[in-house]
Amino acid sequence: MEETSVLEQIKDLTDELNYHNQLYYQENRTEISDYDFDMKLKALEELEKKFPHLKQPDSPTFRVGGTITKDFPTVYHKYPMLSLGNTYSKDELVAFDERVEKGLGTKDYEYICELKFDGLALSLQYENGVLQKAVTRGDGTKGDDITPNAKTISTIPLKIMGGNVPKEFEVRGEVFFPLMEFERVNREIEEDNKVRISEGKKPNTILANPRNSASGTMKMQDSSIVAARKLDCYLYSFVSDELKLSTHEEALKQLDSLGFNVSPTYRKCKNIRDVIAYIDEWEHKRFELPLETDGIVVKVNSEQHQEELGFTAKSPKWAISYKYKAESAVTQLLSVTYQVGRTGAITPVANLDPVLLAGTTVKRASLHNANEIRRLDLHMNDYVHVEKGGEIIPKVTKVDLDQRQGNAIPIAYIDKCPECKTPLVRQEGEAVHYCPNEISCPPQVLGRIEHFISRNAMDIETLGPRTIAGLLDANLISDVSDLYRLTFDDLNGLKFSVEDEQTGEIKTRSIKEKTAQNVLDSLSESRKVPFQNVLFALGIRYVGKTVAEKLADHFKSMDHLMNASEDEMLEVMEIGTRIAQSVIQYFSNQNNRSLVHRLKTAGLQMEITDHGLINYTDKLEGSTFVISGVFSKYSRDELKSIIKQNGGNIAGSISGKTNYLVAGENMGPAKREKAEKLGIRIIDEAEFNSMIS
Ligand code: IVH
Repeated sequence: MEETSVLEQIKDLTDELNYHNQLYYQENRTEISDYDFDMKLKALEELEKKFPHLKQPDSPTFRVGGTITKDFPTVYHKYPMLSLGNTYSKDELVAFDERVEKGLGTKDYEYICELKFDGLALSLQYENGVLQKAVTRGDGTKGDDITPNAKTISTIPLKIMGGNVPKEFEVRGEVFFPLMEFERVNREIEEDNKVRISEGKKPNTILANPRNSASGTMKMQDSSIVAARKLDCYLYSFVSDELKLSTHEEALKQLDSLGFNVSPTYRKCKNIRDVIAYIDEWEHKRFELPLETDGIVVKVNSEQHQEELGFTAKSPKWAISYKYKAESAVTQLLSVTYQVGRTGAITPVANLDPVLLAGTTVKRASLHNANEIRRLDLHMNDYVHVEKGGEIIPKVTKVDLDQRQGNAIPIAYIDKCPECKTPLVRQEGEAVHYCPNEISCPPQVLGRIEHFISRNAMDIETLGPRTIAGLLDANLISDVSDLYRLTFDDLNGLKFSVEDEQTGEIKTRSIKEKTAQNVLDSLSESRKVPFQNVLFALGIRYVGKTVAEKLADHFKSMDHLMNASEDEMLEVMEIGTRIAQSVIQYFSNQNNRSLVHRLKTAGLQMEITDHGLINYTDKLEGSTFVISGVFSKYSRDELKSIIKQNGGNIAGSISGKTNYLVAGENMGPAKREKAEKLGIRIIDEAEFNSMIS
């Protein structure tokens, strides 16, 4: 094919797809079927793969990421990105207003108040309506060109369609981590860590707070990770030499009409009294927003007034930010309790006299570990400062020594597990204490059962952690094999506790008939889960997903594996002494052997039964699949095994991390729609077969 005609095709497809994306995201309507959109996107992807140099800067395929940037080039800002003077005091705000009035020599001016979004400042440069560059604030004069990462943010237009668009313009705003997405990503990291820990790998760090994580994410080298995190961006500034607008309000409206995401929370204020009313109004209401804000920004509305007032060296004289005080409160420490995690890790928690903080009642705060308690020099009944920063769990920041009673007793760290009384251990160089009683320490037992039912293990989705806790409380189960003896009557009406995340209040719920039946059905279904999953589900230390698959493939059955010697295990590729010894140690424990026996009696797969499918390749390495619908050649479990055996990953739901949706018969339209929206490739059974053949 001739390059010129390919270029034409690429341009046409890019324009057409951008047009439909714009209709979808900005006007909430469609003119094309999802299927046709998907086909066109696929066609564009194919062409771009063959002719990468012809890919257009506004290609919709940028949304899913895939670009790796080793070093972000430095770019000088056309107009410096200044900072704002800030204050925590309303008196200083009145003083600012007096300076504005004096500077303008009139009382006739207005303000626009906006919220101060807590994220990362970004400048977007457009030429002929097409996004050319996205640059961080940097030192205000020059920043990093992070264009591929910015292009993954779905609300940043890659191309402005129609309207009164100047040839060149720049917009500025704040990239932020929507709170829901922040929590979702952290949940995913936690899930992934469960697998990593079981494979003996170092767990990844949980994201500390939305602001730092937004900023860190935008500087990541792999734009597909950025895409998966679903950041967002509010724009608040429009700069163009060609198109001068007379007020800031007009600029916001112009941004909105060009298709940028403008927060609807701004307000025009006639005087500083109105500004203060806006501040008071948002002080608490801001916690209902889907992102973090740390104050408000007051801007003189008229552009001419702005020019008259001018700038200091660092910031404009026509704007100021008012910061809400760090959310902190003083309350009394009532007690310190200790939580035991799944791995036996101990976390001390301060139980507090309930106090209102950042819109919610706080009753507990993390104390992290023994070192932190020592650093705080915490005593019983101390009055403590609690802060809710970006972190989700509030923390104790300091003790109010003035209020300490003379006879106060220092907090002594426990030396026995609060749950099972086993002496705690603390490895040299580690801050955290552990309970070594893996076998019968209740929270560890719960953790193991949670692992057993998890998606990559037995995949018993209908059983959640709370139901498990309810079953343990009711003495209906004591280990995973008991799950298979549950009856409808055991489950129907079973009470379990739910803790209200906001208030910490414990509520009781009970299992309804339909759920009880669903649980039984999925338990029964899990009997078909392949042997390698069963092996992984046992939670043997260092036997993660991949190791379980390798061991299953080599030994073919649980019996062979249980009786294998260390040397025999070392014959398996990639199995080293650490794993081999861990497996041997596990099976040398009579309790574990009888558990396996009970699971076998319950009907779980204890040997490789699939049609000799285990034939490892790395064909699907690095790709994540979601399976939906019914297939003719495979059961869903078989399909899952094949994907894993070829190096792919399985996800239960579609997200930015998904690469392929394998669509069978009767796939729900919602899944297709979501996949299409995210630009995920949808493949049928035949296409899947050709990928692995
Ligand atoms: S206006 C000349 N408006 O705050 C200053 N900034 O301290 C132009 N920010 O770098 C900035 N929300 O990252 C403005 N509604 C808002 C804002 C906002 C957050 C950040 C921005 C800026 C910093 C200045």
